[in-house]
Amino acid sequence: MSRLIQIFDTTLRDGEQSPGATMNVEEKILIARQLARLGVDIIEAGFAVSSSGDFEAIQKISQEVEGPVVCSLARAKAADVDSAWEALKGGEKVRIHTFISTSDIHLKYQFRMTRKEALDRAVEIVQHSRGYVEDVEFSPMDATRSEESYLCEMLEAVISAGAKTVNIPDTVGYTTPEEFHRLIQAIRRRVPNIDQAVISVHCHNDLGLAVSNSLSAVHAGAGQVECTINGIGERAGNASLEEVVMALRTRKDFFAADTQITTEEIITTSRLVSRITRMPVQPNKAIVGANAFAHESGIHQDGLLKEKMTYEIIRPESVGVGKTRMVLGKHSGRHAFKNRLEELGYHPNEADLNKAFERLKHLADQKKEIFDEDLEAIISEEMGRKVERYRLVSIHSESGSNISPKVTVELAVGEQVLKKAGQGDGVVDAAYKTIASMTETKSHLKSYVVKGITGGTDALGEVTVILEERERRVMGHGADTDIIIASVRAYLNGLNKLAAWGDRKNSGEKEVGLI
Ligand code: KIV
Ligand code: ZN
Repeated sequence: MSRLIQIFDTTLRDGEQSPGATMNVEEKILIARQLARLGVDIIEAGFAVSSSGDFEAIQKISQEVEGPVVCSLARAKAADVDSAWEALKGGEKVRIHTFISTSDIHLKYQFRMTRKEALDRAVEIVQHSRGYVEDVEFSPMDATRSEESYLCEMLEAVISAGAKTVNIPDTVGYTTPEEFHRLIQAIRRRVPNIDQAVISVHCHNDLGLAVSNSLSAVHAGAGQVECTINGIGERAGNASLEEVVMALRTRKDFFAADTQITTEEIITTSRLVSRITRMPVQPNKAIVGANAFAHESGIHQDGLLKEKMTYEIIRPESVGVGKTRMVLGKHSGRHAFKNRLEELGYHPNEADLNKAFERLKHLADQKKEIFDEDLEAIISEEMGRKVERYRLVSIHSESGSNISPKVTVELAVGEQVLKKAGQGDGVVDAAYKTIASMTETKSHLKSYVVKGITGGTDALGEVTVILEERERRVMGHGADTDIIIASVRAYLNGLNKLAAWGDRKNSGEKEVGLI
């Protein structure tokens, strides 16, 4: 009989720790709803004490998203656990996940604690968390570089204190499949009360082994896997959810284990996360890459035509590939637009839907066919457009081989509409310089990338910029068939994010790291 493995998704917490992958509250809710449709068991929605944005996202997700248990991370500090509980307390199924390191390297250099002090702190914090909620998870950080006896002693103590899940993190992606298998078996053998808790694993991908290590742990008896969509996460990322889930499903015969995931939702979820985080999926990525089901060689194609089983171990439909891809055009109605967005995982409110539909109509005048990628570019921009101090009203530009580029920009700044003309080295440079002077902002443009979303010269162009102001870096993006307008939208999107960050800083909010 198959064991049921719990899928703990940490896309919104560890995944968000990928450089540049910051998400706002609305974006997190959008992803959480899709994770619920995917059928994950637990959503780690953030790290409540770290920022007001994380706190709000955890609070809303725990109250509004039905199905999965919603969890907040908390360091082994009472203030962290209190904040996690404040954010979670309105939800029905909630978990507090607390952690402290067990490796001597971390204890000596980072925590400056003895093993005894760390153990006492872990027990205290689990007891404190249990004062709020029954569902408490404890992680001994850097477990795979910790001394085994001490790790087992720590696990026994936190289970006695009330932890219901003990997570074994390979924090720096150091272990190997066989070594990790032995560690999980040793924990099962050496921790006397281990049957009172679920063993979880949390593997990072520094050596490209995160999925293999997680699967090996399941084979050794782990009952929960922590993972992220598309494998995003700190540094080289975390174990990729879609790979873990499909390996268990495809090789149930070997692992004697499966999950409750609705695999047909995998592609939709992957694309949603990729679009919101602006992290493209590599074409050859297993399960969700564009080439994952593309057979190029003649011999393979011949075999497939005769019998699918020759070269196909997963049916593409089973992960949601080839779900009807409705192509919208000039005559498509609002209803078809809304339906397709829902199939793609977007559930906009009326106002966002109306704005996006207006843009769709405008786009359909310029372009014969509208593809999913076009829809996603428009809707994610509209839904992300929450904090708008600066908004483009109009832009007029002049350029040519013998004239110096000029622009006139009309910009809504709060309640006021400002208008200004300017010049630069090229139209985009002229527009950016003019806007910087109108908004009195001093950000540095660190990167500017243009990408055609779909084929053809009438395609939507998508611009992504990275702006830096003081110690803060943000990504801005914008899409339009006119590349100058897309560039201006991207720049203003970045400036709006910097403005929102400035407001939070002025209101006294501090950013908290993991330690
Ligand atoms: O990688 C890690 O150790 C973590 C812990 C906070 C669980 O993310
Ligand atoms: Zn991690």
